[in-house]
Amino acid sequence: MQNAATSLERGRQTTSGNEPSGTRHRRAPMSSRPVVQVSGVDKVYGNGTVALKGAELTVKEGEFVSLLGPSGCGKSTLLRIIAGMGDATRGSVKWWEQDHTVVGTEGRKLAFVFQNATLMPWARVYKNVQLPLDLEGVAGSQESKAKIDEALAMVGLQGFEKAFPRELSGGMQMRASIARAMVTEPNLLLMDEPFGALDEMTRNKLNDDVLRLWRAKGWTVVFVTHSVYEAVYLSNRVVVMAARPGRIVDDVSVDQPYPRSSDFRVSTEFAGYCRRVSKALERASQMGEEPAE
Ligand SMILES: Nc1ncnc2c1ncn2[C@@H]1O[C@H](COP(=O)(O)OP(=O)(O)OP(=O)(O)O)[C@@H](O)[C@H]1O
Ligand SMILES: [Mg+2]
Repeated sequence: MQNAATSLERGRQTTSGNEPSGTRHRRAPMSSRPVVQVSGVDKVYGNGTVALKGAELTVKEGEFVSLLGPSGCGKSTLLRIIAGMGDATRGSVKWWEQDHTVVGTEGRKLAFVFQNATLMPWARVYKNVQLPLDLEGVAGSQESKAKIDEALAMVGLQGFEKAFPRELSGGMQMRASIARAMVTEPNLLLMDEPFGALDEMTRNKLNDDVLRLWRAKGWTVVFVTHSVYEAVYLSNRVVVMAARPGRIVDDVSVDQPYPRSSDFRVSTEFAGYCRRVSKALERASQMGEEPAE
């Protein structure tokens, strides 16, 4: 992870060639290496629902990209396809410019954080966080224990190792879920509305935690949210989707430096980006159904 973090910091000095349409880039911070490339992806479910049509998305190393759009526009579908948890009906997904066989190899690991913490209720926090290492068959080693301790410390759950999920607040449960994703040392982190059910204060705090970890760990992040404010606060880019069929209709760069703090939330720049993204979302919501071919 040291290397990834270093390359992230280095990447912040460089210029990205990934210019979204209709937006200006004064300073593009990331490396130009694509981690995810979604090309011409359609998704038609078995019942005939066209969840995605012609989705195109490139996410570069070290980027924090949010997917924003009205309910039912296909955000989760797209994220699941990116994760390899569902097949595209048409089109292709590449990870690190190759097919799915590279996932899980060194430097190319992905982890998924769901909307609900999805912890095992009968297992203590430590055991829950250990689960991916159990599945990899490496739990129990000194190295694994160190990874679990580090992950729990980074999400602020030291001292809660022996607690059961029911003994944690909703925010703490989500932090345990993030720790569980962290122990696999992912390079690509996919998060599907992880903080949607939490109150604003807790969400703001977890947003700061995720940004801190993102910077420290050098993750590439794709983050689904319904919140314009959350998307702008967190992201380098906000990708806006429209529904029926789900498609990407806008891509707004949030060209503001990190670290971001509560000062950013009350700045005129933040308000300006929120206005721009809200307008894009409004346009997306007003887009009618595309005529069937
Ligand atoms: N397994 C499925 N079978 C059939 N249709 C599905 C399935 N999963 C999702 N859909 C449909 O695909 C469309 C996109 O759903 P998806 O869950 O990706 O939307 P979303 O943008 O994540 O919505 P939300 O913001 O409410 O979570 C919706 O019309 C939904 O009803
Ligand atoms: Mg969803």
